[in-house]
Amino acid sequence: MNSLLPPGPSNFLAFLQLTFRHYFRLRFDPIGFSKKLTQKFGDIVFFRIFHHRVVLVSHPKYIHQILVSDSANFPKMSRIRNHLRQATGDGLLVTEGKRWHQQRTSTQRIFRSQRMSFFTSIADRHIGEMLERWEAHSTIEIESEMTLLTQRIMGDGFFGIQLESEPEVAEAVRVLSDSFHDESRSILNLPDWLPTPKKRQKRRATTLLRLKLKNIIDHRIASKDRRDDYLDMLLYPATKSNSNCPHHEHASPDEIMSQLLTMYIAGFHTTSVAMAWLLALVAQSSEIQRKIFEQSNVEFSDSPAANSDDRENYAEMVVKESLRLFPAAWELFAREASEATELGPYHIPRGSLLLILPIVMHHDERFYPNPEEFDPTRFCQKMESARPPHTWIPFGLGPHQCIGQSLALRQMTQILASVILRFQLTLPPDSIQKTKLVPKVSLRPAKDFKIAIKPRIPQAADRTNTEALTSCQ
Ligand code: HEM
Repeated sequence: MNSLLPPGPSNFLAFLQLTFRHYFRLRFDPIGFSKKLTQKFGDIVFFRIFHHRVVLVSHPKYIHQILVSDSANFPKMSRIRNHLRQATGDGLLVTEGKRWHQQRTSTQRIFRSQRMSFFTSIADRHIGEMLERWEAHSTIEIESEMTLLTQRIMGDGFFGIQLESEPEVAEAVRVLSDSFHDESRSILNLPDWLPTPKKRQKRRATTLLRLKLKNIIDHRIASKDRRDDYLDMLLYPATKSNSNCPHHEHASPDEIMSQLLTMYIAGFHTTSVAMAWLLALVAQSSEIQRKIFEQSNVEFSDSPAANSDDRENYAEMVVKESLRLFPAAWELFAREASEATELGPYHIPRGSLLLILPIVMHHDERFYPNPEEFDPTRFCQKMESARPPHTWIPFGLGPHQCIGQSLALRQMTQILASVILRFQLTLPPDSIQKTKLVPKVSLRPAKDFKIAIKPRIPQAADRTNTEALTSCQ
């Protein structure tokens, strides 16, 4: 095995392991710092943060090695898993090995393609209600709207119930995500019982979420109701499908709680933030809205856009391009090399932390010329097949790739089509470009976008066509 370490920034204090400079840059400007390192040193960059050896990886070939071909050697960093455990318990985001495999296999059933129509009809209802409400407004705050919508769809689709006091629950999820983000990269590892304001907030959020979910679980058990949703699947595994007895052989009450919390926390914020970026980007282009609208009304339209080759996939292309520009999961969970290994021509010492930021690769000119430009045609089949594989990874890659990917893509396309069929959106040029990015667990805009909305002619909103549009995935 060779002993050549990857190139990286020198640090005159490295020998004292006091690498504050890198720590602060990575903590307070992670995206800018990582882009600069990649531009200067290349696809694999080595630097130190205190006693940690850190390797930033930004090329699809090496990312594939870490997340797919050699993934067993690169588990999630143990500190990250410990902090995630505090938020979700031992759910899919935390477990590894055999337990993870069991959870993943059983959870996958809920995302089978046959079940997608269940989620589509639930989403349709909540989207319809939201659009009705929008009729009374001329502007909307898009992130708040998408938070409410996603929360309703997820609550209904996963537990068959609306969570009471929605704003409080949304806030609790935000607090938990933020505290996970801040604590997992803090120098200090403070215990949760400390009476600091942030710890108090975290304790309150954890208690609130657990209590709400416990009520939902208890209510379902007591009522003996059966519903085709995730909670039902956890309470009554397939082997007992004919029975009305809650069956805890495979999942203990704790595990059921962890699985529900995991799905809610992992799926809720990412999807709502991704939707907010998507609609803000689309609101800046009347041309893109026109194309989506024409595609949705394809049966009534003779326009060239409606009959062109890329017609079937245009809305999905728009969704994919927005996830390229603003990947909600802008960084993956850090991985840890459990053995010394080789990555390309370089030696990666045992215990090194591997950082992968989809946003860095998504903005790399080699794969996406004019990377800051919003251009959905990058995702037409011809352009996609011309790019090297694994250059688009908003949902990660390999065995831990997002389990909700197809659901999220489908829902995003469905919401986009439904909104554009009913409303014209406007956001002043440069609004997005001028917005500061807040990279916490999800990549959020510093300030919510106020989008002007104008209803289209009523007969345009044809529901059958929305379904045709979303079924092209
Ligand atoms: C636009 C929306 C979403 C984005 C951008 C996103 C992104 C991601 C990414 C990047 C990962 C991999 C993390 C890593 O390997 O370090 C992941 C994992 C995961 N996601 Fe998503 N996600 C989204 C929606 C959802 C939804 C809707 C659900 C569930 C309802 C979900 C549940 C999960 C779970 C459980 C994992 C862990 C999978 C495992 O380790 O086996 N996500 N997600």
